[in-house]
Amino acid sequence: MARERLLRQSPATLWLTGLSGAGKSTLAYALEKLLLERGHCCFVVDGDNLRHHLNSDLGFSPHDRRENIRRAAEVAHLLNEAGMIVITAFISPFQADRAMAKEIISEERFIEVHVSTPGVVCERRDPKGLYAKARRGEIPEFTGISAPYEAPLDPDLEINSEMHTIEEAAEKLYRHLIGLCYIK
Ligand code: ADX
Repeated sequence: MARERLLRQSPATLWLTGLSGAGKSTLAYALEKLLLERGHCCFVVDGDNLRHHLNSDLGFSPHDRRENIRRAAEVAHLLNEAGMIVITAFISPFQADRAMAKEIISEERFIEVHVSTPGVVCERRDPKGLYAKARRGEIPEFTGISAPYEAPLDPDLEINSEMHTIEEAAEKLYRHLIGLCYIK
């Protein structure tokens, strides 16, 4: 409570899930910028980053993805305990793993955001050339090509980055945080 008074916010984790290339990280950093500019303490926990450091021992089997999500959720939980608003960007393709993340972070603090850019659009964008490689069979278990993505059935928010600009999408998430009184 002392921390909430000091920071003038209630901690929450916006859990962004969606395909590779859907725009999760771009949206996460745009929202982070917006929150910081408006005086709110926040931090992005990003799959691509975490996989170079804390989770560098993990691959993309269902077992390793689950462990990736478990550790990410524990990090988000700690940052929430420290008073931060957290924005995570992980494909997190399995419903059961996202449910585990919600349990670790707690129901009151977990906001599931489906970045629902369709697979064909992500593949057309292919910012890292990974879809092309996956199609050539050079990346096994690639989400959306040779590994499943289980879309959230009842997300708190859905963002299709085809329909909104990044700024509009970030603003929508910001408004959601205000609507739920995490920030004023
Ligand atoms: S998750 O499935 O475990 O949540 P995470 O979000 O951490 O995945 O990492 C996804 C990123 O790893 C992708 O954006 C892509 O850059 C890279 N990547 C490498 N191999 C794969 C793969 N087989 N499937 C999906 N993404 C992969």
